[in-house]
Amino acid sequence: MSAGPTNLEFGEGGRPRPTIVRGEGGALWDDRGRRLVDLGATHGVGNLGACPPTVVRAVQAQAAQLLYLGSGYANPVRTAFLEKLLGLLPPSFGRVFLSNSGTEAVEAAIKIARSSTGRPKIVAAMRGFHGRTLGALSATWRKELREPFGPLVPEFVHVPFNDIAALDAAVDERTALVLLEPVQGEGGVHVATAEYLRAARAAADRTGALLGFDEVQTGMGRTGRLFAFEHWGVLPDLLVLSKSLAGGIPIGATVTTTEVESRFRGSHHSTFGGNPLACAAGIAALDFVVGGRLPERAERLGRVALEGFRSLPASRVREVRGLGLMIGIELRDKVAPVLAALEARGFLAIPAGATVLRLLPPLVIEETDWDQGLAAVAEAIGDG
Ligand SMILES: Cc1ncc(COP(=O)(O)O)c(C=O)c1O
Repeated sequence: MSAGPTNLEFGEGGRPRPTIVRGEGGALWDDRGRRLVDLGATHGVGNLGACPPTVVRAVQAQAAQLLYLGSGYANPVRTAFLEKLLGLLPPSFGRVFLSNSGTEAVEAAIKIARSSTGRPKIVAAMRGFHGRTLGALSATWRKELREPFGPLVPEFVHVPFNDIAALDAAVDERTALVLLEPVQGEGGVHVATAEYLRAARAAADRTGALLGFDEVQTGMGRTGRLFAFEHWGVLPDLLVLSKSLAGGIPIGATVTTTEVESRFRGSHHSTFGGNPLACAAGIAALDFVVGGRLPERAERLGRVALEGFRSLPASRVREVRGLGLMIGIELRDKVAPVLAALEARGFLAIPAGATVLRLLPPLVIEETDWDQGLAAVAEAIGDG
């Protein structure tokens, strides 16, 4: 249970957590041999589960072939990964910038938008989360995450999520980018309305701004479609991916159109971006997500869970929100005791703010584990 000299959560504090040493599918084992069900412990990276066998094999083979290559050189594994990724996206997308994390992929989107439009302003949403490097943090909403690190990057404004009039008023001829999560994750699991995303597209078109969707958390099948924007049929100019894109190996991808790229001035680069190891993992991960029909599974398991939670008589629940296997249960009080109660029952979930219980299970979670997890959540909420 010891946290040891970890630096993973600077400033987050909190109670000691189990030490996890192994994983398989939707289950994790601690250093005492206890099996724990992952309802969110992998923070949305584990869509394919822990150690997906085809990804592990691809990584092993690639590690023996070529670990690293600078981006100035071509590599067939990188090319194959990019072709596969673009093949799964609408044809308007033709260019990808590869990096190593969600926040880096957001940084790239901000730089591409500013450079390609020649404009400074970024419009983001209240409750939005886009990462912790200074550019992405400037687009992030929560005051506690931002304030200690000011001054942040200028010309970022935040508008209420799902408020079309406020968005229309904010987006103007100085706007480079409208940056939105189709479902806000860290901010409490808030789902965008179709009208809002259509209005965002229209506002960008009207003013010459770019529309960017941060699908770091919603991507790769999580919401019941491979990419969440497919639910609404609204196409962005910039799409930001990371988390489970390479099945657990660090990766970030900023996808855009050849037209946007043709207007890009200056340069952007990442030493480790597009390394063959991550690309080999990415090929195997994409094949697994598509071949294993994981988005369909997320849609089915998520729908049943949402219906179940919504019919709970629990007086402690303020609202149940979600899409696919991205579920938020907003409580009337603090979520921390519920997380501890779940952990005692062998289920690891995460918060989204102080009062929201967030479930982001692997899309491959065994149905018995999921059913028992839902029962444990209902009990833990009832216990309060
Ligand atoms: C929507 C969204 N964008 C960006 C990020 C940042 O990703 P990373 O932690 O890999 O930098 C996250 C992380 O949770 C996220 O949920």
